[in-house]
Amino acid sequence: MQVRQVWGKGSLCQFAKARLSDYLFIVVSNREPYIHSYQGDEIKCEVAVGGLTTALDPVLSATGSMWIAHGSGDADRATVDSQNKVLVPPEKPLYTLKRIWLSEEEIEGYYHGFANQALWPLCHTADIEPVFDESQWDTYKRVNEIFAQSVLEEVRERKALVFIQDYHLALLPRLIKKANPELTVAQFWHIPWPRQKVFQACPWREEILDGLLGNDLLGFQTVRHCRNFLTTVNRTIAESKVNYEKAEVTLGEKKTKIHPFPISVDFEQLSEESQSVEVKEETQRLRKELNLNDKFVGLSIDRLDYTKGIPQKLLAIDRFFQERPDYKGRVTFIQVVTPSRTQIPSYRKLREDVDTLAENINLKHGSGDWKPVITMVGPLSTTTLAALRNMADLFIVSSLHNGMNLVAKEFIASQCDSEGILLLSHFAGAAKELNDALLINPHAIDHFAVSFEKALEMPRIERYKRMRRKRSIVKENNIYKWAADIIAELTKNEM
Ligand code: G6P
Repeated sequence: MQVRQVWGKGSLCQFAKARLSDYLFIVVSNREPYIHSYQGDEIKCEVAVGGLTTALDPVLSATGSMWIAHGSGDADRATVDSQNKVLVPPEKPLYTLKRIWLSEEEIEGYYHGFANQALWPLCHTADIEPVFDESQWDTYKRVNEIFAQSVLEEVRERKALVFIQDYHLALLPRLIKKANPELTVAQFWHIPWPRQKVFQACPWREEILDGLLGNDLLGFQTVRHCRNFLTTVNRTIAESKVNYEKAEVTLGEKKTKIHPFPISVDFEQLSEESQSVEVKEETQRLRKELNLNDKFVGLSIDRLDYTKGIPQKLLAIDRFFQERPDYKGRVTFIQVVTPSRTQIPSYRKLREDVDTLAENINLKHGSGDWKPVITMVGPLSTTTLAALRNMADLFIVSSLHNGMNLVAKEFIASQCDSEGILLLSHFAGAAKELNDALLINPHAIDHFAVSFEKALEMPRIERYKRMRRKRSIVKENNIYKWAADIIAELTKNEM
């Protein structure tokens, strides 16, 4: 039997050092990995949550590289030098974070505008109409040029590899490649790529595709997103040649390789954290405070976004208690929501809808000191989140459409006793790898409600077997493997 390598921080560092030693390695993203903000007179540095910083921090630290991102913290300007640079991570500074400043108007048009009101709903197909506004598009183009300028200033004559993140920077690959054809450029598209028919609605589809075809390598979360992209290019750009077998697009002289790289979490670190004394104490405290001692606990942790299917989940909870009143008082659902993009009207409306739905369920089904739904508003500390995951018997992911969904993988990594159950939407990229979860269609409320019963009544041995299998998958396909696979693919011809 072949023993497969399990990547960790150490092996990724060594690998990155060996493969990237000849290059200047630059990561570019909208969101910065470290954000400085004022707390009273003091400056606090926060790490951006999510897999990206976990994966790329070791790579950048090992290679002494650079991360370029929009400086969004209110103390960001106070912490950079005259070239807008600061060394990070704060506890052990090993690489440079270079910040880009954007005006209010630029943030409005590029981030709140084109990125999150056109591209985000377009790629997620979740019942929210994309807004295609000419002036937002102009600002998006301008901001991509600002990023390009900043990258090119750093590269100059050097041999460089630029790794771009996500949908905020779709035009950047072409801009930098055109100015400096010697660059190696890769991008990871963290969100879904929709079917060609859906993408066709975008008036600037050709410019966006052309921008992305400036990449040498373009990564998506799943094979399906790769195929959707290839078909979109094939049917939109007449001069392109699409080779489905090789997953390659040729436009003029330029080849772009399209490849799936499912993103993941730091399995070992999350497993260890869930066993720590601090987390165990927090678990006890929360159980007492939230009156959960004899209850079956269902948990969801979501950024407050209309793609996450939170209203659908609440409707299913309502239906469940209606159909199975015998479970009243015995089951509590905790919904953690972290407000996001609050300047966009559809996000504000979602907050109101979620609050109203949760209140109605509690009024209708609750009694005494038992509340069927407890809403907790984030951001919560990593210790509290780990404690919540520890006490959950059931974790529910109800996304209507999701590139991957890392909270599902975080839950699996934290289940050291393998007792928990994962209820996972078919429409999350994670469902492809984690098909041992109880898969649900969040639109089918009746079926969704019945799956709560299935979970509650699932024999212990079955829960255990299913969780063990999922744990071995996430353990092997961890965040370090994601980064290593991308670096390996990018530097393949160098070996
Ligand atoms: C998604 C996107 C990321 C984004 C994150 C948080 O996962 O793919 O690029 O950073 O959401 O959203 P925010 O708008 O707060 O950066």
